[in-house]
Amino acid sequence: MRPPLHKSGNSHNRPAAIGKFLSLKLMLPIALLISVCVIAVAQYHQSITYFLRPLWDTPPKPFTRIPHYYAPNTSMAELCKLHGWRALSSPRRVFDAVLFNNELDILEIRYRELFPYVDKFVILEANATFTGIPKPLSFSQNLNRFSFARSKILYDRLPIGRLDPDHRRQPFDVEASHRRALNALLRRSGIATGDILIMADADEIPSPETVQLLRWCDGVPPVMHLELENYMYSFEFPVDHSSWRATAHLFNERTGYRHSRQSDLILADAGWHCSFCFREIREFAFKMKAYSHADRVRRESFLDPARIQRVICSGDDLFDMLPEEYTFRDLFKKMGPIPSSASAVHLPSYLIKNADRFRFLLPGGCLRSE
Ligand SMILES: *[C@@H]1O[C@H](CO)[C@@H](O)[C@H](O)[C@H]1NC(C)=O
Ligand SMILES: *[C@@H]1O[C@H](CO)[C@@H](O)[C@H](O)[C@H]1NC(C)=O
Repeated sequence: MRPPLHKSGNSHNRPAAIGKFLSLKLMLPIALLISVCVIAVAQYHQSITYFLRPLWDTPPKPFTRIPHYYAPNTSMAELCKLHGWRALSSPRRVFDAVLFNNELDILEIRYRELFPYVDKFVILEANATFTGIPKPLSFSQNLNRFSFARSKILYDRLPIGRLDPDHRRQPFDVEASHRRALNALLRRSGIATGDILIMADADEIPSPETVQLLRWCDGVPPVMHLELENYMYSFEFPVDHSSWRATAHLFNERTGYRHSRQSDLILADAGWHCSFCFREIREFAFKMKAYSHADRVRRESFLDPARIQRVICSGDDLFDMLPEEYTFRDLFKKMGPIPSSASAVHLPSYLIKNADRFRFLLPGGCLRSE
C-alpha cells in the first residue's frame, strides 16, 4: 500500500512530496540529536573547547631558551662566563615586586629564600580580588611573620571600591588599577636605571642562583622571562617546566609592571611556581571562589572540603578541567592526575631546613587541616 502522502499529485509533485515525507520522518531524530548536542555543549562546553583546543587555537610564538648553568661552589666569574656574560666588579641592586593575594606560606618561603640577594621587597595588597570579592588584608594581619625582612619591605594597600556588577569590563579596570598602584609604589622604592626588577606573582619564586646571575653578570638581556618548574598543591606534584609569566628586567624609566608576554627570551630552570600551595582547605576554597573565572566553579560541590582534600591527595584537578594544551599529544600526555614525586631535591632551601613547619608542601604531606 502506498502511503497517503504519495496518493496525490502528478509526477511533477512527487519529489516535493517525498521530500516532505522524509523531512517529517527525519525531523524527530534530528531534533532529538540537536537537543542532546545542545545539552552536552551546555554541560561540557568547557571540556569540549579544551579538548578541541589543538584545532582552534594556535600556540604563542615559542620562546628562545637561554641555557642556565649552575653548580655549587662555582665562582660568579665562572658562572657568568658560562652564559657568555662577564662578572661585574660589584653586584646590581635587586627589587622584587609582587601583587599579593593570600599565599602567606609561599610568600614567607620566597622572602626567606631571597632575603640575602634582594635589596627591596615591594608588595601590594588589595582589599578585593580582580572580580570585586572583598578579601582580608592577610599580609598586614601577619606582619610579625615577616619582621625578619622589615628593613627591606615596602608595602602598600590598594583600596578597591564597590564594583558595579553591570559593568562587564570592570575586572580589567581593577587589574589595571593594581598595575598603576604597583608602579606608583615602585617609584617610591628608590629603584633606578640599571637595577634589576623581578615582576612575579608571590607564588612564582626565582631561585637564588637565578638572582645571583642577574645581580652579578654584565650582559643579561634587558627583559627576559623566567622559566619556572610548575607545581600544583605542593612540591609533591610537579606539573611541567613551562611557567613563564615571571620576568626579570634591567630597570629604566619606561619599565612598568606587567604579568604577560614581554620578550622572546626565557632563562631555563630559573625557579619554582607552586600554585594552590596552601596550608588549609579553606584557603583553597577561597582562592577557587575569589580568583578564578566564575564559570570554573561549575558546581557548589567543587567547594566541598572533603572533595578538595581528595583532589589534593590524588593530584587531580580542582575544577575538573582538561589541561590547556595546544597539541593532542600534550593533551593526552597530561590527562588524568599529576603523578606524585618523591623528590625533595632542588627545592627552596628554607623549605627543607624548616620541613617540620612546611610538611604540607613536601612529598607525603597532602593531608590539610580545614
Ligand atoms: C669550595 O671551594 C673552595 C675554594 O674555592 C674550597 O676550598 C672548598 O673545599 C670547596 N668546597 C666544596 C664543598 O667543594
Ligand atoms: C576597601 O577599603 C576601602 C577603604 O578602606 C573601602 O572604602 C572599600 O569599601 C573596601 N572595599 C571592599 C571591597 O571591602
